[in-house]
Amino acid sequence: MKISIIGAGNVGSLTAMRLAQAGLGDVVLIDILKDLAFGKSLDLEDARPILSSHYNIEGSEDINKIKDSDIIVITAGMARRPGMAREELFSKNSQILKGVSLNIKSLAQGAKVIVVTNPLDLMTILVLKVTGFKPNQVFGMGISLDAARFANIIARELKLSVNDIEAMVIGAHGEAMLPLPSHSKVKGVSLNKVITGERVEQLVKETIGRGAEIVAALGTGSAFFAPSAAIARMAGMIVKDEKKIIGACAYLDGEYGIKDICIGVPCRLGKQGIEKIIELDLNKEEKKAFLKSANKLKEQYSSITI
Ligand code: APR
Repeated sequence: MKISIIGAGNVGSLTAMRLAQAGLGDVVLIDILKDLAFGKSLDLEDARPILSSHYNIEGSEDINKIKDSDIIVITAGMARRPGMAREELFSKNSQILKGVSLNIKSLAQGAKVIVVTNPLDLMTILVLKVTGFKPNQVFGMGISLDAARFANIIARELKLSVNDIEAMVIGAHGEAMLPLPSHSKVKGVSLNKVITGERVEQLVKETIGRGAEIVAALGTGSAFFAPSAAIARMAGMIVKDEKKIIGACAYLDGEYGIKDICIGVPCRLGKQGIEKIIELDLNKEEKKAFLKSANKLKEQYSSITI
């Protein structure tokens, strides 16, 4: 397996480390800044004897090195600064991703592409359209991170292991995300039955604001430890053809009554990428909120000129 990561910043370089250490494949790290990816790859290579590990990693500013990759992770672009919404990265990052997508199209036709750059849902459909790849091949990492955050916050509240929590979040990877208490479980019991009323609402709110909370605390840049873990998890599911269900930003073609937009939904992930979209049974309110955020994405996407 050849796995390329475009963008060797915080998220990209930590993802490279996780993928290499997990032995998921040969890793190629690319960044537009001269020698940045190269330098990081040397550093990552030096860890091999200490870790007694035999991974291969290469770093370069030459995008041609992604040729014939099996998996490509896109983290290129700007990260949020304090007070900035993910959506504000829109115009800058869409220009960057157009260029990156054209390169992927000409160099790695068979790749599964995991988009990470924000605003995630818009960047995912942009990559899908510009590459012209099949919808199973192009998807985004965002909602699985949100679900991890929700699970972590629930576990902390209940003083339980995170392993006992199954958290469900759908929708856009942004302020409009929908953490779903009705579909989240604590050891098989609906979260609604374990934590009630206002307290659940507070946990939901905290989950939605978690990324911004981290951005504000860091002062420069946005989260990268949990995001890189979520990317590595998705890549592992593809490499090992796990066929497990995970939240991903996927292209909808009628599912949930939505067409022609990428948004976070539970999916079965395996060697073909998105192999199935799982349609949850949403109540009236959840459906309404989900449709509203999908329509907003559609509107925003129509303002990009490709
Ligand atoms: N090709 C390759 N790399 C690029 C390009 C390009 N065309 N344009 C920018 N980059 C690189 C930058 O040089 C930088 O090193 O992308 C990297 C981004 O790294 P960081 O600024 O550290 O950002 P990071 O925290 O990694 O986040 C990257 O992921 O989670 C999202 O919102 C986040 O959109 C952001 C992305």
